[in-house]
Amino acid sequence: MRVLITGARGQVGHELLRLAPEGFDVLGLGSAELDITDASAVAREVERLRPQLIINAAAYTAVDKAESDPERAYAVNRDGPANLGRAAEQRGIPVLHISTDYVFSGDAAQPYRESDPTGPTGVYGASKLAGEQALAASCRRHVVLRSSWVFGAHGNNFVKTMLRLGQERDELSVVADQHGCPTSAASIARALWTLAQHYQQEGGLRWGIYHYSGTPACSWYGFAQAIFQQAHAAGLISRQPVVHAIATEQYPTPAKRPAWSVLDCSLLRQVYGIEPADWRAELNTVLAEL
Ligand SMILES: NC(=O)c1ccc[n+]([C@@H]2O[C@H](COP(=O)([O-])OP(=O)(O)OC[C@H]3O[C@@H](n4cnc5c(N)ncnc54)[C@H](OP(=O)(O)O)[C@@H]3O)[C@@H](O)[C@H]2O)c1
Repeated sequence: MRVLITGARGQVGHELLRLAPEGFDVLGLGSAELDITDASAVAREVERLRPQLIINAAAYTAVDKAESDPERAYAVNRDGPANLGRAAEQRGIPVLHISTDYVFSGDAAQPYRESDPTGPTGVYGASKLAGEQALAASCRRHVVLRSSWVFGAHGNNFVKTMLRLGQERDELSVVADQHGCPTSAASIARALWTLAQHYQQEGGLRWGIYHYSGTPACSWYGFAQAIFQQAHAAGLISRQPVVHAIATEQYPTPAKRPAWSVLDCSLLRQVYGIEPADWRAELNTVLAEL
């Protein structure tokens, strides 16, 4: 089966290329090869390459920058999926798309289910929600996989930032009142390939929105502590910096972050048997790659 991957040079895109199972002919295009905001380029490439499935890993992911750059964020995160959806519908093929925990307000106390009301608090989350809706409106056969706190050996993420800061400083402060689920880019890629394999075998999927993130939930502070402990044990850093727990208001950012980002992933488990990956084991693998 021929699969077109857009945003192929990002964290998840990179893992999708690396982890493609046998039986898939994978065409990965980065932003320089295919700009998903360009509707005619998308239509032309889909017509030329004739994929049987599209996986969209492209997104505008600069959460703070999006606050002052909403036009670009909406162009990539809303219009991009709409362009892909239209081109896919035209060819009668499905789109697997990735979205985010930031579509929620973050004021819940239970893990978010797919059917829970959305309420993004910033431009990034609002543009990603608009992308989910634009894809649903343009392409009947689609899956939206919402994930959270993505990390990997390739690209920029919290793990890499912590390792860099840990080398520069003896002490650092990390927010302890925001909770979520770190998710390796590799585990998202594996989940998407499992869905692609079901599609390949069955000719269809139960279309719609699913949640997929790592387990267990933690705070950024807890995640930082685990990163330093594991990096030290792996010999990546010579000593662990002191990590101080701080409140969100002590670390102001242009975009408001959800205090509670935990996703309930039971639907994907029930329907497709896809289990959330333990992020501590995934972190070990990523640190070994680094
Ligand atoms: N990172 C997280 O913590 C997180 C959390 C929850 C959900 N997600 C979602 O997970 C998905 C993958 O995220 P990621 O972490 O892999 O992001 P990433 O590393 O920032 O990769 C995104 C990729 O999209 C590309 N891109 C940007 N604009 C494009 C355009 N107009 N046309 C084509 N490609 C374009 C970027 O290329 P350039 O670099 O060349 O612009 C980049 O390679 C996204 O849908 C994101 O919203 C991420």
